[in-house]
Amino acid sequence: MNKFSIAIDGPASSGKSTVAKILANAFNFVYVDTGAMYRTVTYLAIQHKIEFSDEDQLTELIRRYPISFKQTKEGQLVFVEGEDITQAIRQADVTAAVSEVSAHRKVREELVEAQRRIASSGGVVMDGRDIGTVVLPKAEVKIFLVASVQERAERRHKENLERGIESDLESIQTAIAQRDYLDSHREVSPLLQADDAIRIDTTGMTIEAVVSEIKDIIHQKG
Ligand code: C5P
Repeated sequence: MNKFSIAIDGPASSGKSTVAKILANAFNFVYVDTGAMYRTVTYLAIQHKIEFSDEDQLTELIRRYPISFKQTKEGQLVFVEGEDITQAIRQADVTAAVSEVSAHRKVREELVEAQRRIASSGGVVMDGRDIGTVVLPKAEVKIFLVASVQERAERRHKENLERGIESDLESIQTAIAQRDYLDSHREVSPLLQADDAIRIDTTGMTIEAVVSEIKDIIHQKG
C-alpha cells in the first residue's frame, strides 16, 4: 500500500476516530486526531484562565505548549509538557467550549500548519472537520461520515461511561446539536463535505461495516 493520505471528516461522534484508528492500524499509517488538538488548546485556556474569545492569547498557548501524541496498545495518548491529558480533554467543560476556541482564524492557522507537518511524509489517517477541504485538499481518499444526532449522542454516552466519564444522554444530545451548528456555521473552515469526498451515513451501521466500506474505497484507489 502506497503511503497516501486518508481524510475523514464529519460531525461530532459520527464514528470518525474509531474508524480512523482501525484503518491506521490496518494500513500501518499514523493516526492524527485533530479534534484532540483543538481540545488541548481549550483545556490549556481553562488551566491558564484565558478567555475563549482571546484569539492572540490562545494562539500563544499553542506555540508555548506543543502537543505530542503517543500511540499505545490502549489507544492514543495526548501529552503537554509531559502531562497525560488524554482524559482531561474529553471532560464536559472542554467539550462545551471547544467550538468557540476552534472558530478563531489564528488558532486554526497554527494547528493546520502542525497537522500538515505531521502529514507531510504521507501514510496518515487524519480525522476532523476540515481535513478534506482545507488541511489535506489533495488527500487521495476523502470520507465524510454522518449519522443522526440521536445515534451519535447514544454512542458518545456509551463511550463516556466506558471511559469512566460522568454522562447524561439528554445533555449530550443538546450539546452535539449545538456543536454541529457552531462547527458548520463558523466563518473560517466550517464543517463541510469536500466535493470529492465520499459520504457514508453510519446510522444503524456497525463499525465493522463502515470500516469494510472504506477499505473497499481505499483498495479501488490504491
Ligand atoms: O472531533 P472532536 O469532537 O473531538 O472535535 C472537537 C472540536 O474541535 C469540534 O467540535 C470542532 O469545534 C473542533 N475541530 C475543528 N476542526 C477539526 C477538528 C476538530 O474545528 N479539524
